[in-house]
Amino acid sequence: MKYSEKVMDHFTNPRNVGEIEDADGVGVVGNAKCGDIMKMYLKIEDDVITDCKFKTFGCGAAIATSSMATELVKGHTIEEALKLTNQVVVEALDGLPPVKVHCSVLAEEAIKTAVADYYKKIGRPVDFEIEKEHDEE
Ligand code: FES
Repeated sequence: MKYSEKVMDHFTNPRNVGEIEDADGVGVVGNAKCGDIMKMYLKIEDDVITDCKFKTFGCGAAIATSSMATELVKGHTIEEALKLTNQVVVEALDGLPPVKVHCSVLAEEAIKTAVADYYKKIGRPVDFEIEKEHDEE
């Protein structure tokens, strides 16, 4: 299996690792098949994601995609973050081997789940779907 340089870079030197103690939204997602877990923390001000951190107990591709996802949403609006699909994350990493694409789905789900958590906290209806990973086989 061959990984792009960007994947290796984000795996060996992940950005925004950690927790935000007073996070406005937290999303925890997992993949039942591989058992990997991803936790995403968002700090939100005026609908802009001012900070984003993650903790991933998972494979290298899950770490690289969570790292890239935090970079892609930080400083952006919630609306933009909700448009972030796993394909966008994969493209930003110059691709992932097909068997590892499901790992990037976790990153998309984690961000959306964290936004949904924020919406619930502030009493805003959750008007978007969190697409769960489809089984590939
Ligand atoms: Fe489970 Fe990558 S193998 S997220």
